[in-house]
Amino acid sequence: MTEPSTPPQHAERPAAHQATEMFEPEAWDERYSGEDDVWSGAPNPQLVTEASKLTPGSALDVGCGEGGDVIWLAQNSWTVTGADFSKNGLARAARHAEAAGVADKTDWWQVDARDLQAQERRYDLVTTHFLHPRDGAMADVVRRLCEAVAPGGHLLVVGHAPPAQAVIPADDPRRKAMLLAEQLLPALSDDFQVLVVEQRPRTVTRDGKTIAIDDSTLLARRL
Ligand SMILES: C[S@@+](CC[C@H](N)C(=O)[O-])C[C@H]1O[C@@H](n2cnc3c(N)ncnc32)[C@H](O)[C@@H]1O
Repeated sequence: MTEPSTPPQHAERPAAHQATEMFEPEAWDERYSGEDDVWSGAPNPQLVTEASKLTPGSALDVGCGEGGDVIWLAQNSWTVTGADFSKNGLARAARHAEAAGVADKTDWWQVDARDLQAQERRYDLVTTHFLHPRDGAMADVVRRLCEAVAPGGHLLVVGHAPPAQAVIPADDPRRKAMLLAEQLLPALSDDFQVLVVEQRPRTVTRDGKTIAIDDSTLLARRL
C-alpha cells in the first residue's frame, strides 16, 4: 500500500475487541479523522506497473482510502470511481483529488466491499489494494468485483502476503486476512483469463527500517 506517514498499526498485537473492530468502517473512520494523512499519497507500485500497460478508460478502485491510486489513474487519463466503506476516507480522497486538479475525472462510492453489488456498473479496470477483509472474505469480494469488470476489461487485486510468523503470529486476525494470489483464483468467473498470479517482492521503509514484503498480485482479463 502507499506507505504510511505514521507508524503502521501492526507494530503491536491488538486486543481481541480491537481485532474485530479493525475490519469495520468505524475503526477506519477514526483512523481517517486525525490531522495527518495516513498514507503517503503515492500510487501503489503494482497499480503503476500494470495500469501503465492498459488503454485508459473507466476504473473502479475499491478500498481507495485517501485516494492515492484514484488520483494517479485520473492523472493518467482514466475516469475513476473511488470506493471505500469509510466516509472520512472518501471525504479526504475527494479533497486530495480536488487539490490535484482531477476532481472532474473522479467520483466516489461509499460501499462495503463485502456487500458490493455491481448491478449496472461496468469498468474497464477494477482495482483493489490491501483491502484485507477478515476471515478469508477476500475471495467473496473478488467474486463481487468480477461482476463489475466490463468485457475486455481487467481486474487487479493486490494484497499483503503473510510475512514470517515471528512478525505476525498465526492466530492473529490480521495474518488470517492476508493472502497468496493463487488463493483467489477459484473466485474468478469462467470468463476471466489469468495474466498474473504471483507474489512480488519489494522493500518498504517503516519506522526508519527497510523491510522486505511481498505483494500478492492477481491480474485477470475478462473475455
Ligand atoms: C490498508 S488501506 C489501503 C488504502 C489504499 N488502497 C492504499 O493502498 O493506500 C485499506 C482501505 O480499505 C478500506 N476498507 C477496508 N475494508 C473495507 C470493506 N470491507 N469495504 C470497503 N472498504 C474497505 C479501508 O477503509 C481503507 O481505506
